Amino acid sequence: MSEVMWNTEFYENAAEVKPLPSAAATPKPSSDPRQLRDTLGKFATGVVAVTYQSGDGYYGVTVNSFTSVSLDPPLILLSLKRTSRALTYLMERPFAVNVLGDHQLTTALQFAGKPQDADPIEWITHEGAPRINGSLAYFQCTPWAGYDGGDHVLLLGRVLSHGEHDTKPLLFYRGRWESLAWQDSRPERNTS
Ligand SMILES: Cc1cc2nc3c(=O)[nH]c(=O)nc-3n(C[C@H](O)[C@H](O)[C@H](O)COP(=O)(O)O)c2cc1C
Repeated sequence: MSEVMWNTEFYENAAEVKPLPSAAATPKPSSDPRQLRDTLGKFATGVVAVTYQSGDGYYGVTVNSFTSVSLDPPLILLSLKRTSRALTYLMERPFAVNVLGDHQLTTALQFAGKPQDADPIEWITHEGAPRINGSLAYFQCTPWAGYDGGDHVLLLGRVLSHGEHDTKPLLFYRGRWESLAWQDSRPERNTS
């Protein structure tokens, strides 16, 4: 495990985690990274903007490695590149996960490092971390633990509050932006 990623609080939270056998003991996969990336891209995902405050500024990073982890305690997971500027901030301050709607493509591009000529983002700033108005859903989080994920860090966040808004999701599939075509014509599934 990398030493850079740990701070004391993270380490304590992760204390009960059983380590897996070291990577050196397992056979090395032979896959070409480009092909692996293309194949992984067949997994359709939603897209989130993870937002935070630094000084007087509000910042974000576009992520599709978001997933739910636990209900008790309520935990979510993000996988962030070790080179991500956001990572250092998100490990030690509150952050908001904004699930993006299909009207928020310019926001997704902006926080993926491709600034857009678009209307300025409407921030909601009176909660734990700044969040983006009009997102499909949001989760206000505090960092819970960080784990080694190779060239990424797996960041777990504890959900402090959440909310939702009625709009369609922005999707990412095979390296392209998509939106739901069938949402209005399919019956809703009852999950209760
Ligand atoms: C659809 C999409 C999904 C992305 N998912 C991730 C991700 O899960 N983890 C990650 O570290 N970067 C991801 N990125 C790349 C970051 O958004 C991008 O590198 C960003 O510029 C990092 O900003 P930062 O250096 O300010 O943190 C994604 C980009 C796009 C367009």
